Amino acid sequence: AEDGYELWLRYHPLTAGQATIYRIDASQLVMGSATPTQRVTREELQRGLLGLLGQAPSLSDTVTRDGAIIVGTPASSPLIARLRLDTADLGHEGYLIRHVNVDGHAATVIIANDDIGALYGAFHFLRLLQTDQPIAHLDLRDSPRVKLRVLDHWDNLDGSVERGYAGTSIWDWFKLPDWLAPRYTDYARANASIGINGVVLNNVNATPQILTPVYLEKVAALANVFRPYGIRVYLSARFSAPIEIGGLKTADPLDPQVQQWWRTKAGEIYKLIPDFGGFLVKANSEGQPGPQDYGRTHADGANMLADALAPHGGVVMWRAFVYSQSASADRAKQAYDEFKSLDGHFRANVLLQVKNGPIDFQPREPFNPLFGAMPKTPLMMEFQITKEYLGFATHLVYLGPLYEEVLSADTMTHGKGSTVAKVIDGTLDNHTLSGIAGVANIGTDQNWSGSVFNQANWYVFGRLAWNPTQSSRAIADDWVRMTFTNDVAFVKPVVDMMMGSREAAVDYMTPLGLHHLMGPGHHYGPAPWDASEPRADWRPVYYHRADSEGIGFDRTRSGSDAVDQYEPSIAAQFNDVKQTPEELLLWFHHVSWDYRMRSGQTLWYELVAHYTQGVDHVMQMRETWSRLDGYIDTERYQQTATFLAIQEREAQWWRDACIAYFQSISGRPLPPGFAPPQ
Ligand code: GCU
Repeated sequence: AEDGYELWLRYHPLTAGQATIYRIDASQLVMGSATPTQRVTREELQRGLLGLLGQAPSLSDTVTRDGAIIVGTPASSPLIARLRLDTADLGHEGYLIRHVNVDGHAATVIIANDDIGALYGAFHFLRLLQTDQPIAHLDLRDSPRVKLRVLDHWDNLDGSVERGYAGTSIWDWFKLPDWLAPRYTDYARANASIGINGVVLNNVNATPQILTPVYLEKVAALANVFRPYGIRVYLSARFSAPIEIGGLKTADPLDPQVQQWWRTKAGEIYKLIPDFGGFLVKANSEGQPGPQDYGRTHADGANMLADALAPHGGVVMWRAFVYSQSASADRAKQAYDEFKSLDGHFRANVLLQVKNGPIDFQPREPFNPLFGAMPKTPLMMEFQITKEYLGFATHLVYLGPLYEEVLSADTMTHGKGSTVAKVIDGTLDNHTLSGIAGVANIGTDQNWSGSVFNQANWYVFGRLAWNPTQSSRAIADDWVRMTFTNDVAFVKPVVDMMMGSREAAVDYMTPLGLHHLMGPGHHYGPAPWDASEPRADWRPVYYHRADSEGIGFDRTRSGSDAVDQYEPSIAAQFNDVKQTPEELLLWFHHVSWDYRMRSGQTLWYELVAHYTQGVDHVMQMRETWSRLDGYIDTERYQQTATFLAIQEREAQWWRDACIAYFQSISGRPLPPGFAPPQ
């Protein structure tokens, strides 16, 4: 049965014709197995080629026939050293794949400066076969543009996953460190195949127990499984751990005893895990403890931990997701207000981890104004892969276009072309430390991610983390081919469907810059009317501000003035209702229901039109899928068909609920001819 467990590493037999052609160029494998990484690289190539071609290449120490694949580093292989290929620019983790001639035989080399680069190259080579591309005369080079490419698990030690929609945690803490589930290895393979090189094992709302010896041993066992795949483990650290598990009276970062406690703790961790990555910290955010509890700054807190980790080479990923209770303040402004002035005050091994937008993983937000505003600090991107505000597991929403939209946004901070991608990869301000994190959508479901299409979001996150300038469409194309089939009659419509799916969700949930209309707490389904939350900034009405005159959050200079957190030319644009992109209109402006949109329609009509369009798009997706029965296995076909039916029903629910609610406030009639489908 096809349960989706294999993800995009399916290695099912290619068509006979294609396999015959590839076999000519993949007839022999010449590579070492002296290190654990070399061994897993060899295993992966053997497994992949056997699966795809129906025949594993023969292993050999030397090239004795045409079609050899030679894998390794100049340092580990005299044969590779002899080829004298230029590997200087590959750096750490990079690779080249090239057609060469060795002793009169046609061969392909996969070369890197280190074992892990060769593993990445091997996965790339397999991807070429999986996606039906020619391999006879290859000449390509690739290296990651971002140093830390990290999955953040919001997994609790009791097995639950915060905002997880794919079962429970895959970390079986109870049976660790003794039982190492095979799933851990498959998890590492999947991550390595897309270049992910770090994982934070536990929730940012952290329990201190993860830092106790009994858990650290379990963490070390996982680190041992991941190490051959180039993956380091990190932990979310609770700021008050010195009190809770250390018996101290305070967690004040300037207290020498507290500093000593963290130094000792770091030493203890590195003894067990010599390549431990470091700490992720959520502090003074949504009730979590932090340095401000002692009148200290975020920098004081981050630096204290950074000093404890620095002797061992670890980093601190300090989160900038902060907002406070005050009803009068604009939540969207608070991270910038708290952090901007700390630029230049962080240690060299601190990264500030910033969510893509200023609120919270909404279907669409403008880019976070901190990007570009803190040139002296490496800013790490935090995307969410799990779809907390985008329909959980059942709605088909491909997040590639969302990520791409944010990464390609121009902050203008160093003139035109100062994209968020360049902030993140460190090139804009010359940082050598750089990182991207994605909040994982992984759980114990057989298919890992709650749905087959949610696997694509894990996939595209990894690929974009490696190179944030790639096209999300090209990545979707690879994913569809690897996950399903190379048949273009299937690939083309499915990629189109994926590419339109995020805009559809924006349309049926929160069009035209609306945000946070989801039911408070669970964040699933519409509740723009809900006022049950005690905190103003947890109520949807706080965000849409609809009244009889109009709708939207005034963030202009006459409102909260969030616009002035952006570079002046962008601020001027967002401050002007006419220049603000309509897709962000109600994010920045409170406008009349009768406001004339560019289309000539009133805002009210256009809002209704967007909700309708969102539903129509989902209906089209369902229709497209219904024509694709027979191209893939029944299991994955049927589950997706069922999920699309759920999505259609719920898109209608969103549309009907939002239109009815907003109409009750606008008092405007529905557009002529408007009739929701039965
Ligand atoms: C969101 C989410 C929380 C999470 C928080 C965070 O608010 O709903 O569950 O803890 O983000 O990122 O810290």
